[in-house]
Amino acid sequence: MPAQRILILDDEPNIGSSLRMILEREGYAVTVTRTIADAKAVASRADALLLDVRLPDGSGIDLLRQLRERDFPAPIIMISGHATIRDAVDATRTGAFDFLEKPLSRDKVLLSLKNALEQVNLRRENERLRELVGAGSRMIGSSPVFLRVVEQATLAARSDARILIQGESGTGKELLAAHIHRESPFANGPFVKVNCAAIPSDLLESELFGHEKGAFTGAISTRKGKFELADGGTIFLDEVGDLHAASQAKLLRVLQEGEFHRVGGEQPIRVAVRVISATNRNLMDLVTQQKFREDLYYRLCVVPIRVPSLRERPQDIAPLAEYFLDDFCVRNNFHSKRIVDETYPILESYSWPGNARELRNIVERMAILTKGDHLTAESAPVEIRLPQDFSPRSNLKEARESAERDHILRALEESSWNVSGAARSLGMERTNLHKRIRALGLNRAKH
Ligand SMILES: Nc1ncnc2c1ncn2[C@@H]1O[C@H](COP(=O)(O)OP(=O)(O)OP(=O)(O)O)[C@@H](O)[C@H]1O
Ligand SMILES: [Mg+2]
Repeated sequence: MPAQRILILDDEPNIGSSLRMILEREGYAVTVTRTIADAKAVASRADALLLDVRLPDGSGIDLLRQLRERDFPAPIIMISGHATIRDAVDATRTGAFDFLEKPLSRDKVLLSLKNALEQVNLRRENERLRELVGAGSRMIGSSPVFLRVVEQATLAARSDARILIQGESGTGKELLAAHIHRESPFANGPFVKVNCAAIPSDLLESELFGHEKGAFTGAISTRKGKFELADGGTIFLDEVGDLHAASQAKLLRVLQEGEFHRVGGEQPIRVAVRVISATNRNLMDLVTQQKFREDLYYRLCVVPIRVPSLRERPQDIAPLAEYFLDDFCVRNNFHSKRIVDETYPILESYSWPGNARELRNIVERMAILTKGDHLTAESAPVEIRLPQDFSPRSNLKEARESAERDHILRALEESSWNVSGAARSLGMERTNLHKRIRALGLNRAKH
């Protein structure tokens, strides 16, 4: 993650330089300005602002007001040496995150800044999740395998059954989880995501269940955990396969007993929450290797749903690519662009190890690097155009069979498994196609 950028506005050089030293030591990128005019010029690039109140060219509180009126997104902390209570009240009413008095204590500055940035991150994450579950986000795909997955998910959504979504990275698991929430009886409640891989195991308990004030050093106030925040809605446990053993035990307990305690709390808390989890690892394999508790697996996986990789549904590549391109152009106020027909076979013959996410990145890259309105074969990056390298063990026969399997499957899906129709479009004899279908072990149910 790039360093977070802090803008300081203070006309006293000593304050500017000591704050710079304190903040840079913590890894922040710091800019110090001494006048309102200078600060205004660079404010839009900052993630948080520290503003003095009395300045040579005006009042910091006026600047705060102006920025807030423009819906300036970064948090603003006021610092002042001769503040009156009135100033402090004014500033907080106007939308300052905090008001610190000089002389500044290092710890107070750091804590206030950390809280401010955390609050912004939470707000951004909430906005993103609201967008994800809002009516705006669409699930694109028309291949039979994909439609079947969406149908299964929609059916499962109607109950409160716990759902485990498995699939390779970038296949759209989070999108599907949001879809399930939208279609479920919990749709009016919140959709709360927990990234199990990102939370160190000693913090997980407090993250999931919250803590009481003073439960441990740093617990400066009582905080609700994600289970409480998700009450009446859905909790989405992402990357659940990455939970450590201790965390698995804690999660199991709440799933079994339906209640939990905040860290340091006495009262048991009960919530009504729909649990959806997801992982890009094979959870059953982890159970076999004794890295994931079997009892927890069965608690999480009442309804298993596997999202197929993009390789298994090449038919979805073109509509997804178009959708990503339109979305990108609208978001960036670009002229609308189009993918020319000759480009599709190139996109469709690539194996997309990063699935829909990789496709989205490549399409966006092509859109940026293409001057005109047409995305042509030449604008596709080389790694997409080069023949795929196969794993070292695979030989020519396997490679050929895999290509043949994809090709035949696609023709069959396009003809709704009418073998004569598929044979015609493939330019081969019907009996011959039957033989190949058997030899390659293709059957409709499996796909
Ligand atoms: N069917 C789809 N329709 C539209 N967009 C999709 C679809 N599938 C995936 N995407 C987009 O691709 C990106 C990756 O999807 P998502 O984050 O849901 O994948 P994931 O399976 O959770 O990945 P990871 O395992 O890496 O967390 C997102 O930008 C998502 O919006
Ligand atoms: Mg995900």
